Amino acid sequence: MEFIRESAGWLYLVGAILFILTLRGLSSPKTAIRGNTYGMVAMAIAVVTTFFVVDHVVVWLILAPMALGAVVGIARARTVPMTQMPETVALMHSLVGLSAVLIAVAAILHNNHLVALFSENAAALQQAGVEQTHMSKVHFFELFVGCFVGAITFTASLFAYGKLAAKKWAKTIAGGWVKPLQAVLFIVMLGCGAYFFTSGNMTAFWLMTIFALAFGWVWIAPVGGGDMPVVVSLLNSFSGWAAAGIGFTLENNMLIVAGSLVGSSGAILSYIMCKAMNRSIINVLFGGAMAGGAAVATSGAQVERNHRSGSADDAGFLMSNADSVVIVPGYGMAQGRAQNAVKELSTVLKEQGVKVRFAIHPVAGRMPGHMNVLLAEADVPYDDILEMDEINSDFPATDVVLVIGANDVVNPGAKDNPGSPIYGMPILEAYKARTIMVIKRSMATGYAGLDNDLFYNEKTMMIFGDAKKVVEDMTKSINGSGH
Ligand code: TAP
Repeated sequence: MEFIRESAGWLYLVGAILFILTLRGLSSPKTAIRGNTYGMVAMAIAVVTTFFVVDHVVVWLILAPMALGAVVGIARARTVPMTQMPETVALMHSLVGLSAVLIAVAAILHNNHLVALFSENAAALQQAGVEQTHMSKVHFFELFVGCFVGAITFTASLFAYGKLAAKKWAKTIAGGWVKPLQAVLFIVMLGCGAYFFTSGNMTAFWLMTIFALAFGWVWIAPVGGGDMPVVVSLLNSFSGWAAAGIGFTLENNMLIVAGSLVGSSGAILSYIMCKAMNRSIINVLFGGAMAGGAAVATSGAQVERNHRSGSADDAGFLMSNADSVVIVPGYGMAQGRAQNAVKELSTVLKEQGVKVRFAIHPVAGRMPGHMNVLLAEADVPYDDILEMDEINSDFPATDVVLVIGANDVVNPGAKDNPGSPIYGMPILEAYKARTIMVIKRSMATGYAGLDNDLFYNEKTMMIFGDAKKVVEDMTKSINGSGH
């Protein structure tokens, strides 16, 4: 036991390296399982080591909540549908934020009697050779940052959860009063924090926490539901920074390193998502409900335009006679739970000698990696799955592109219509293929609420129906035709 205590620094270093390897592993579906394993080992090292570096541990007080958390976590992980992952992640971030607040409060209360010593008698104590208390100015600052970032993360993530889960209490707010209110809450929060920092006044600390909680809610409540995934990723980053701040307070290097990794990776992911949606983070966070999502649903679909439609049989015939087919999955594939049927279709086509590949847009679906996860679940070989940059140049030489429940990510308006709200967003250039087939239930718009010229292209055949049913019919048709 003494050995673990003495080697804690080294063990934490091993944990930190494993956390870095975890992130590296998670960057590709091929290595994701290995990455997860590294993460579990790193977390086990971090938790076990921490038991030995802290004095006076009341073991059951730690093990009981851990056991409870494990039971709830395992039950939730087993039952949560893939489509509810974003809100589950948001809820988990809210707990990280709450933990940061509670740790800060505990650290403050625990050291409360030291506060007076800190400000008045610290020098005298030092002279008298009394050991210095650990409640230094630096600690005040860490608590201040960890607590208010944690409080903002808590309420903002809670709101994001409510919004994504369509809870009644998570109502988007709008109006000219919102921004001034945000500014007032933020300034008062910082003011209280600064007073606490300089004086150690506990009332200021409590007020700062309350204002931070209120600010978190009012800050995120104007953001449109569709932008929530970006917000969730940003809050993920916040929860990491809050944990790192608390790591300084607790003088725990592991928490500092792990928190910083979460903080920076969350920030990078938010940046990548915003770039793929052609939005700035400022626009997402402060653009209000008008930005993105159903909030901008436009009149596009109301204009009568001609489109061509066909049946699953027609599509099956064309595809089985093609040399190359590129499948573009989108949110509708997730919504229709069609991934296994899609895998089956691709297998049958391959058996006919057709070259089949999948094209993934970075923001297809509703969460990062949404399509990759579904295709991996259906055992689609990783080598058949190509990112936007890898596949775009191949579309002109592709016989058939099969769009399954995707809309915005193949909307040519993003390239050629400067008036479009998504103008500038990189897209999968499906419109360049020789034949285009689109499976969806109607001519309705997608997430951005925009009409899509691809559906009216003379090379396009719309196949209306639920993604799973249509794809299954296509497979049956190809199998039945004996091509
Ligand atoms: P969308 O543009 O949302 O289009 C999905 C289409 O699927 C809809 O037009 C819908 O048309 C169809 N659909 C729905 N259920 C279906 C079913 N059961 N069977 C067949 N079709 C079905 O999806 P996308 O192309 O994947 O684009 C994603 C959008 O979400 C982008 O605008 C992106 O910016 C946004 N977004 C993404 C993320 C991340 S991280 N992925 C985060 C935030 C926002 P019908 O109703 O006519 O069937």
